Amino acid sequence: MVDQSQKPTVVILGASGDLTQRKLGPALFHLSKSGVLPDHCSVVGVARSNFSNEDFRAFLRSGLPNQDDSDWNEFAGKVSYFSGSSTDTEVLHRLDVEIASGCRDGDQDNRIYYLALKPSLYPDTLIALAESGSLDETTGSRRVVIEKPFGTDLESAQELNSLAHTVLNEDQIYRIDHYLGKDTVQNILVFRFANAIFEPIWNRNYIDHVQISVLEDLGVESRGAYYDTSGVLRDMVQSHLMQLLALIAMEPPASSTPDALRDEKAKVLSAVHSVDAEYAANNSVRGQYAGYLDEDGVDPASQTATFGAIKLLVDTWRWQGVPFVLRSGKSLERKTSEIAIEFKRPPQSIFGVGDQARPNRLIISLQPDEGVHLEFVNKSPGSNTKLTTESLEFHFPKGEIRDAYERLLLDAIIGDATHFNRSDEIESSWRIVDPFITAWVDDGNPKLKSYEPGSMGPVDSALLLGEGRNWILGDDDTLSEGL
Ligand code: BG6
Repeated sequence: MVDQSQKPTVVILGASGDLTQRKLGPALFHLSKSGVLPDHCSVVGVARSNFSNEDFRAFLRSGLPNQDDSDWNEFAGKVSYFSGSSTDTEVLHRLDVEIASGCRDGDQDNRIYYLALKPSLYPDTLIALAESGSLDETTGSRRVVIEKPFGTDLESAQELNSLAHTVLNEDQIYRIDHYLGKDTVQNILVFRFANAIFEPIWNRNYIDHVQISVLEDLGVESRGAYYDTSGVLRDMVQSHLMQLLALIAMEPPASSTPDALRDEKAKVLSAVHSVDAEYAANNSVRGQYAGYLDEDGVDPASQTATFGAIKLLVDTWRWQGVPFVLRSGKSLERKTSEIAIEFKRPPQSIFGVGDQARPNRLIISLQPDEGVHLEFVNKSPGSNTKLTTESLEFHFPKGEIRDAYERLLLDAIIGDATHFNRSDEIESSWRIVDPFITAWVDDGNPKLKSYEPGSMGPVDSALLLGEGRNWILGDDDTLSEGL
């Protein structure tokens, strides 16, 4: 864990926002409560709001109802506030001097600058951090955590990467995707590479297709203005779904070092077949939930997709010809994130009509029913041979799953970049998604379909799977009905 001679300071730039209150404050509090932070760790909130230290602590506490006073007071003692703009060099310089002056002789003055800001402020903030001297590593490490969205397309992501590389080394940049901090997502690596029985069949010879579904029941809530310029492709597919695809499709890394792992993810993302506008139009479905146009901050004539499904192919020996079909959307029937791997049917049918039972499926359920299901065909008791589908299931114990931000913040504090995105992964993901974004602009193709809130999105998304295939959900209660 963390070495006590280190004095990490987590500087949250944009600290008066929703992310700080909902995610970063609670994550830091829980890390403090569980005793994994060094005693001298501190948290500084920076924003333009005219908060006192006490106001900022109260703001953080409102994101953490029902906490015990003594736990809270211990954490609150580490928290302070610094008023000013994150793009103001002079403000950042004063803050730099103030943090340095709080260090004792021999302390490692390590800093984590967390950009919890509007993405349009990232470039000027990075420049101001550099010009203020805040990124000088003479007295300790300097890491910068950058929230998604990282760019809005390939070109803007390349520009941001190139600017970031002028002021930081790649190993100081922590591009966060909170899906990579989820225990269930990290478990994909363990499931694939700590078991010997799945790897031999993890390829085109045995796998028919792969589905990645990240479905949400809520609409855009209070984020209409942001979401309307983003839509499902930029908000979810380019980041979370691309990372899930990479974890499922990557080759085994030679070790668990951050770069060994990220090399393999980057390689497989770069092998995703490049598509053109015509392919994108014919191999995707986009939808918008009825009522979206009335949401606060949304343009009443908006063509932004709140649901998207796309089909991708991966040009490698392992995956040649295996469709990866991804879908995500808001205001759907349920909140669930799952990866379903459907295997090919046995080569010969010897049980007559019962062979029509479902092919084997492996379902990796990321949330809310965190676990793994393996479906297999079984004989029903009785004198005739009737086949049914049954399921072997593992579920993580309830209450043991930590919030993703907790894990990732600790990783940034201790300097482990394994579960953060490297520049090449980000750029490959945009290369994959950009043609769909272009095809979907305004009145483009495919046409935007309206769907009812509480439904599963446009019904024709299932056509992308190909004939005889359906969308799979792990809690499907038709399981033992056989056919
Ligand atoms: C965020 C998106 O990255 O992920 C949100 O911006 C989305 O729109 C959220 O709701 C989903 O995260 P989770 O962890 O609830 O699946």
